[in-house]
Amino acid sequence: MADDKLLITELVLTAHLYNQSDKLGVDDLPQKIRKHYWNEKEKTVKRPIYVTEGDIRTIYGLENVKNSTKTLPFLEFEEFGSQIKLTVFDLAAKWLSKHPGGVDEINGNPVLASFFENYDSLPVSYEKAKSSNTPKESGREWIMSLIKSIETEKGSEEMLKLAHIVAPEDIKQNLKDLVLTKEQENEIEKITKAIQYRDYLKRIGLREIGKLLFVGPPGTGKTSIARALSGKLGIPIVEVRLSQIADQYLGETAKNIDRVFELAKRLNPCILFIDEFDFVAKARATDEHAALKRAVNTLLKAIDEISLVEHGVLLIGATNHPTILDHAAWRRFDEIVDFTLPDKDMRKKILDIVLREIEGSFNTEEIAAKTEGYSGSDLRLIVREAVLNGLITERTVLTQDDLLRGITEFNKRIPLKTKDETA
Ligand SMILES: Nc1ncnc2c1ncn2[C@@H]1O[C@H](COP(=O)(O)OP(=O)(O)O)[C@@H](O)[C@H]1O
Ligand SMILES: [Mg+2]
Repeated sequence: MADDKLLITELVLTAHLYNQSDKLGVDDLPQKIRKHYWNEKEKTVKRPIYVTEGDIRTIYGLENVKNSTKTLPFLEFEEFGSQIKLTVFDLAAKWLSKHPGGVDEINGNPVLASFFENYDSLPVSYEKAKSSNTPKESGREWIMSLIKSIETEKGSEEMLKLAHIVAPEDIKQNLKDLVLTKEQENEIEKITKAIQYRDYLKRIGLREIGKLLFVGPPGTGKTSIARALSGKLGIPIVEVRLSQIADQYLGETAKNIDRVFELAKRLNPCILFIDEFDFVAKARATDEHAALKRAVNTLLKAIDEISLVEHGVLLIGATNHPTILDHAAWRRFDEIVDFTLPDKDMRKKILDIVLREIEGSFNTEEIAAKTEGYSGSDLRLIVREAVLNGLITERTVLTQDDLLRGITEFNKRIPLKTKDETA
């Protein structure tokens, strides 16, 4: 654990180095510090940054800052304004490099690492510090800044209403908690690299990348993977449901689609997740609404025009019904990723993950064998039944019987469920 003196010195030195060098950018500041000094209007941390007692209390939750400061010979506490000033830089640098835990802090702080990399042969790497530092796009404050500046424009209200925007730091889904097929893992790997090497792809003119279509039955993890990807890549996700865009005013639908794509471009780099893609096919099948057909054409055109390499938007479409999409819709995507119902081995792994935090002894192999045709989401519901049944008899430690009973209760509800899905 970093002690008070270490954190205070880290912040004061970071501020000093950041203020001095315009080679350092806002992404070089550690997330905590960046968040605290973030300027919403300018979408950055403006120079110079000053350090006060209050800043340290907010960033690190420290009390008695004044006393700690007074024991450090290279800092001065200014009573007026409670500012903490650096008096002798060299002394502070030396102190930090020798203090227990100092090198660890430096390696987690690109601003410091850029200086200490060439200092006294300390084991410090700027590259490593930078790659482990969370980029600004991960933060809630980044999204808020962008939204604030979009809000000042005409027509923006409609645009923002259509989409659900989530910052990576608020994403709850984690790839580690999802059981993926080899194919799915490969796709994630490829897309991660593509984003990392976006400039290279642009240079060689390779543009046919960054449009994925997730296809598979409900509850197989399509939404979860899209969100987890946003967390992994550290870029926001803009979620839209096609039915929602269409249902309000038919005449506005085409315009709404343009708005959503415009929003995604403004928020770049980001993921644009278009759920319920089967809506496209449904719309084409109806004879009634010319407006709806126009909207579908607008959508397909917008998909054609958006690009990961150019605009920094990774497009992910999701559909539950593969059969009803036509060729014109399919060919717009570079990769089709299959989400099948999990096989026995995957079911066991999903159960193990869902039961991880639940006390009791279970044979998940047996449950997996008895749940052929169940989706990941069905398995979660079975466990939920088991947990609730336990609670009825005041038990938080579950047994295999609870799970088996969970299956029975779940099965009772299946007719209801299928009715819901086709509605
Ligand atoms: N392969 C999987 N591994 C782990 N959990 C899964 C898997 N598939 C589905 N789930 C769980 O089921 C729930 C519903 O998944 P979701 O992503 O909404 O499915 P979809 O978007 O395909 O309908 C989520 O809570 C998710 O954690
Ligand atoms: Mg979904």
